[in-house]
Formats: sequence, C-alpha cells, structure tokens
Amino acid sequence: MSSDIFEKVKRIKEEIENAIPKSKEEVEQFRIKYLGSKNLLKPLFGEIVNVANERKREFGQLVNSVKVVAEQKFIEFKNKIESEVEASENSNIDFSAPSDPVEFGSRHPITITMNRIIEIFERIGFAVAEEREIEEDWFNFTAMNTPEDHPARDMQDTYYLKDSTEMLLRTHTSSVQARVMMSQKPPIRIIAPGRVYRNETISARAHCQFHQVEGLYIAEGVSFADMKQTLLYFAEEMFGKGTKIRLRPSYFPFTEPSAEMDISCFICGTEGCNVCKYTGWVEILGCGMVDPKVLENCGIDSEKYTGFAFGMGVERQAMLKYKVNDIRLFFENDKRFLKQFKSAL
Ligand code: PHE
Repeated sequence: MSSDIFEKVKRIKEEIENAIPKSKEEVEQFRIKYLGSKNLLKPLFGEIVNVANERKREFGQLVNSVKVVAEQKFIEFKNKIESEVEASENSNIDFSAPSDPVEFGSRHPITITMNRIIEIFERIGFAVAEEREIEEDWFNFTAMNTPEDHPARDMQDTYYLKDSTEMLLRTHTSSVQARVMMSQKPPIRIIAPGRVYRNETISARAHCQFHQVEGLYIAEGVSFADMKQTLLYFAEEMFGKGTKIRLRPSYFPFTEPSAEMDISCFICGTEGCNVCKYTGWVEILGCGMVDPKVLENCGIDSEKYTGFAFGMGVERQAMLKYKVNDIRLFFENDKRFLKQFKSAL
C-alpha cells in the first residue's frame, strides 16, 4: 500500500515535469490542477497516515518537493507564455494600416496677416524688399529726414547698440526704403515687411517689438490720388468690399503732406461699437507723399520723380481682423491661442 502511494506521487511529479502547456488557458489549467485550492496534491498530504512510520518523513519530503516543482514550473510557464504573447503581438503589426493622424501646426497669426498684406500688394506690382534689423542711424533716421533733435531719436524710443550712437535696432522699416532708394533707380515699387523695435513700456496696446509693412512707390508723376486709390484697394481687399477710407492730415518727417488713414469700422459699419470706440472709424496706417528731401538724401532727382509711402503695424491689423484685444498674446506663444489660427498661406 505505502509503496503504491509513493508511486502515485512520483507519477504526479513526472507529469508535472513533462507538462508543456501551450496557451494561457493551459497554463491556468495547470495552476488550478496542481496549485489551486482543490489541487491534486492536497489529498496526498492526508495519505501520510497510511504510510509506515519510518517512511513518513520521506513521504512528506516527496510530496513537498512535488509542490515546489509545481510552483517553479508554473512561474516558468507563465513567463514563457507572456513573452510569447508579447512577441506575437509585435509581429502582428500591420504595416499597411493608416498611421496615427499627425497634427499639423498652424502659422502664427502675425505671419498669416503679414502674408495676406504682402499678397494684396504683390497683386498690383509691389515687390518685397527685406533688410537688416540692426541698422545704421543714417538709414533709420537721417536719410528719412528725421532731424537730430527729433523726439523719435530720443534714447527713450530707440534701442541703440551698447556704447554706440551709430548702430541701432530699426524703429521702422523705412530704413529698407532708404536702402532701396540708394541702390535702385525709379520706378521703384516695393513693400518692406519686417520686425521693428521701440523702447516702449509693454502693455495691452504696445510692445517693444512688433512688425510693420511699409510701402514705397516712386516714379514720374505719382500723385496723392494714386496713393489714395492704392490704399482704398488695400482696405477693401483686407477688410472687405465696401470698406471706406478717410485720410486725416498728420505729420511724419519723411512725407509731405502726411496723413493717417482710417477705415470705416468693419464691425459696426460706422454705427459705433467698442472696436471703433463709437466713432465709426478705425485708424490703420500712416502715409504721405515722399518728402523731396528724402529723395535727394537717397540720390533720387526730386525734380523728376515723386512718390508716396505708407506704413502700418501688422499686429494692429491682426488685432482688428481677429478681434484680439491684447498685443502681448502674439508674443507669448501659448498654444491655446495660436491653435485658433489656420491658414493656407
Ligand atoms: N514709418 C512710419 C512709422 O513707423 C510709418 C510711415 C511710413 C508713415 C511711411 C508714412 C509713410 O510710424
């Protein structure tokens, strides 16, 4: 009898050692059979009463060793099957499946607005001219007929390079106009988009860096009426057909006569709202006939040629167009803000 029971345990041990579960389910069955709460080994422990006294110890050790083997095998099987499952999942990659969607970025609202302005002027023959941001005083101010004692030259407004009275960060892209006039012969028809700097206190309405698009047209017989028509065309393209323009006398050192241009409020259509501050009109740019002194400074015969120039802040156009009420938003690079702008241009 007792040798039978030894045989039975040994057989179970062999069974365990030879088991090769092939799936997750078979591993689980193995666990239930040999290690579960009603496992095969349990009743064997009870059999110890039938074993002769001198062999009880041997029997106990045998049954225990079966339990240990079952546990080791189970861990081995479990690890093996898990790594197999993982490998088969990896090999199941379907390379023909469509990939996860790639989120497209969007252009910065200032770039969108600048491109829009450029595109409008390019259509009527203006070419883009670009130049340096670190500029010589002469191109930024002197050539542009800005006298030495003009307030715009004050250290308050202009960033000069350290220890320099000659080199500065351009305060407007009029410096590009000067460089083009110095290097090209009329007819000249350019727009100068770019970043400019002014030593201003940063607020919702002003920043120490912003962008401009300035324009310049010089040829024989260019008149104030040409300027007005060009700017009306721009206003309608930018803010919608039917937009009206209004020119108010103003002053710039480099133009004579000079004007500020307003457009009829595209929000309320001159009814009055908070965008136009209940005036019905919104100021969008400065303009005027190029002062003959500027032409002469840049080597252009002011007897023969006349021209007009204009300049606008890109942030201002973008704030109006997108109804953004704080200029600082354009420089913070907050994705929640930037994501709202989409453009093909
Ligand atoms: N340069 C002027 C500015 O920065 C804008 C301007 C350009 C005005 C050309 C008139 C003519 O404010």
